[in-house]
Amino acid sequence: MEYSKLKGTYDILPKESDFFRFIFNAVYNEAVVFGYKEISFPIIEYARLFQRGVGEASDLVVKKEMYVFEDRGHRLIALRPEGTASSVRLYLENNLAMQGYSAKFFYYGPMFRAENPQTGRYRQFNQAGFEYIGDGSPFADAELILLNNSIIKKLGIKDYSLHINSIGCINCKQKYFDKLKNYFEKKIDLMCEDCKTRYEKNILRILDCKEKSCQTFIENVPYGIEYFCDECKMHFNTLISILDKHKMEYNIDKRLVRGLDYYNRTVFEFKSSLLGAQSTFSAGGRYDYLVRELGGPDVPASGFAIGIERTALLVEASLSKKKGDFYNPPFLYVATVGKENLGETLKIINFFRENGISTITEYKYDSLKKHLKAADSIGCLFAIFVGEDEIKSGKYTLRRLNDGNQWNLSLEEIKKFITSNTF
Ligand code: HAM
Repeated sequence: MEYSKLKGTYDILPKESDFFRFIFNAVYNEAVVFGYKEISFPIIEYARLFQRGVGEASDLVVKKEMYVFEDRGHRLIALRPEGTASSVRLYLENNLAMQGYSAKFFYYGPMFRAENPQTGRYRQFNQAGFEYIGDGSPFADAELILLNNSIIKKLGIKDYSLHINSIGCINCKQKYFDKLKNYFEKKIDLMCEDCKTRYEKNILRILDCKEKSCQTFIENVPYGIEYFCDECKMHFNTLISILDKHKMEYNIDKRLVRGLDYYNRTVFEFKSSLLGAQSTFSAGGRYDYLVRELGGPDVPASGFAIGIERTALLVEASLSKKKGDFYNPPFLYVATVGKENLGETLKIINFFRENGISTITEYKYDSLKKHLKAADSIGCLFAIFVGEDEIKSGKYTLRRLNDGNQWNLSLEEIKKFITSNTF
């Protein structure tokens, strides 16, 4: 093979695409029900949007996980690593802050991160993202969590849990940073290199460290919320009580801090033990300062993004199905014998297609055996045979391919038979 795909990318084959459509439809239907409207923004943006947006201390920036390049006009461009910064940019650039109601966005598409690929972690992956810009109340956070949960349920995913925490407002965060600095001061020399960098750049992220040797140092870390202001405490407690009222189960995880810098107060992740190391398949939280940070007014916001690939793994595991099991083949195969009859075949195919019946053929085959083999491999449900006799009589053999049952019918009768759904 002279060419192969890049590391950390993958192809979706024709018999797999219905599986991903199934996921999209579940996400889309819930977006509609919850009143989130779809938006679309470019895959390329100015790199500084993300540098500023996701934060100079995030892994994306520190570990150079963003795909950045200079274009011919010497502009520094990034392939979008996530959708929140772009959503806020879109919100501001189109004056949506002036519309008098909150912006409720939904987006679906590829994101790019130069991470080390492993199961469930790609360099090009897809996210379904939801952003609720314009409401600071814990009810907005609760709505997002319930929406996320509703999508997970609609997809039939089992074996998952919600993890939730609060990292406080800007002042509480600073107070907590100081506490953590104190706490880790004497321990940091014994911790991993990543933690040492985090100690300097973004101490909160130490809590996220997965390194075995660091765990003993992190285990007894002081819990942030104990140091938070009354408002932050109240925000979190209200959110928890809303979740309780909705019988939404959760685990309060004092070490949950998230990898992007823009978060404050609520942070949450949906995890599944079925996923191994990359166990978080959907995640989000509140980002009340990002709109202002990107040059806009003081507008609170909250959101989350579902990782489609990890979700796909969970759907397969939960439903005990493979991607190919979702394949929805073309319905009808038209098998022509006699090349001179192809003109008539095309008319017949068009007749069915115009009536909304998914119909295909192989123009190059002239033998019934080859036609049937193709129809079988494609997975068509029915075939009809077109030869000189059939064209003259106007009656065609319709064969049900799974059991070989046959009927002799006119095109109109075949259409009725198929669309009546009684076969
Ligand atoms: P994130 O946690 O970076 O958050 O990504 C959200 C989800 O995207 C992850 O939980 C994971 O399922 C998936 N994901 C992330 N990186 C990869 C990867 N390399 N390969 C496969 N899947 C991946 C955000 O992106 C935020 N913008 C979410 C958000 C929206 N917060 C507020 N609004």
